[in-house]
Amino acid sequence: MKKILVIGANGQIGKMVVNLLRNQDRPVVAMVRSKQQAEKLENIGVEVVVGDLEADFEHAFEGCDRVIFSAGSGASTGLDKTFLIDLWGAKKAIDYSVKNGVEHFLMVSGLGADAPDDWVSDMKPYLVAKYFADQYLLSSGLNYTILRPGLLTNDKGKGLITTTRSTSTNDLFISREDVAKSIEYCINRDEVSNQIFELYHGNEVISSAFQY
Ligand SMILES: NC(=O)c1ccc[n+]([C@@H]2O[C@H](COP(=O)([O-])OP(=O)(O)OC[C@H]3O[C@@H](n4cnc5c(N)ncnc54)[C@H](OP(=O)(O)O)[C@@H]3O)[C@@H](O)[C@H]2O)c1
Repeated sequence: MKKILVIGANGQIGKMVVNLLRNQDRPVVAMVRSKQQAEKLENIGVEVVVGDLEADFEHAFEGCDRVIFSAGSGASTGLDKTFLIDLWGAKKAIDYSVKNGVEHFLMVSGLGADAPDDWVSDMKPYLVAKYFADQYLLSSGLNYTILRPGLLTNDKGKGLITTTRSTSTNDLFISREDVAKSIEYCINRDEVSNQIFELYHGNEVISSAFQY
C-alpha cells in the first residue's frame, strides 16, 4: 500500500491527522520543516520527511499516492509568507503531485476562498492566495477534495459537522479536531474526489455529512 503524505504535519490539524491515520494503520509520512520537529515524531514511531515549502520538497512525494495539504503561513507572518506558503507552496505541492502520479490531493482551504470580495476584512489577501491555490488544483487534472472550514477553534471535536453554510455568521466555526476527522474520512474515500465542501460545527455525523 502506498503512503499518505501530510504536508504541514507539525501544525495543529496536521498532527491530529497523522495520529488519526496511524490509529487506522494507514501508512503515513509526515512532512515537517525542521530536524527537531522530525526527531520528536520519529521518537513516537512516525515516518517523517523534512521539507520546506519555500525550497524544493519533491523528495517528500516518493512512495506516496495521496497528499493532504494542511500547511499555512499563519496569522503572525506577513503577506510575503502568505504568498510563498499558502499560494506558491501549495502550487508546488500540486505540481509535484502531478509529476509523481498522486491519485488524490486533499487541500485544506478556508471559508471565503471561493469569493474573497465577499469578505471585507484584512483576511482578503489570504483569501486571494487560497482562491488561486484552489483554482490551480482544480485545473491540475488531479483528483481533488477541497475542504473549506470556517473559523477554527480548539474545542473538543464532537464528530458532528455540517457542510451547509449557516446564514448566521456566529455559526461559521468548527473545531480543528472535527476538521482533522473530516480529512481522515475524505482521504480514504474516492467518492469525495473532485468535490468542494465547506465545513462547520453541526449535527450530522461525519460519515453522512458528505454527500456524493
Ligand atoms: N485559522 C483559521 O481560522 C482557519 C480557517 C480555515 C482554514 N484554515 C487553514 O487551516 C490550515 C491548518 O490550520 P492549523 O491551525 O493546523 O495551522 P498551523 O497550526 O499554523 O499549521 C500550519 C503548518 O504549516 C507549516 N508550515 C508553514 N510554513 C512552512 C514551510 N515553509 N515549510 C513546511 N511547513 C510549513 C507550519 O510549520 P511549523 O510548525 O514549523 O510552523 C505548521 O506546522 C491552514 O492551511 C489554514 O490556512 C485556517
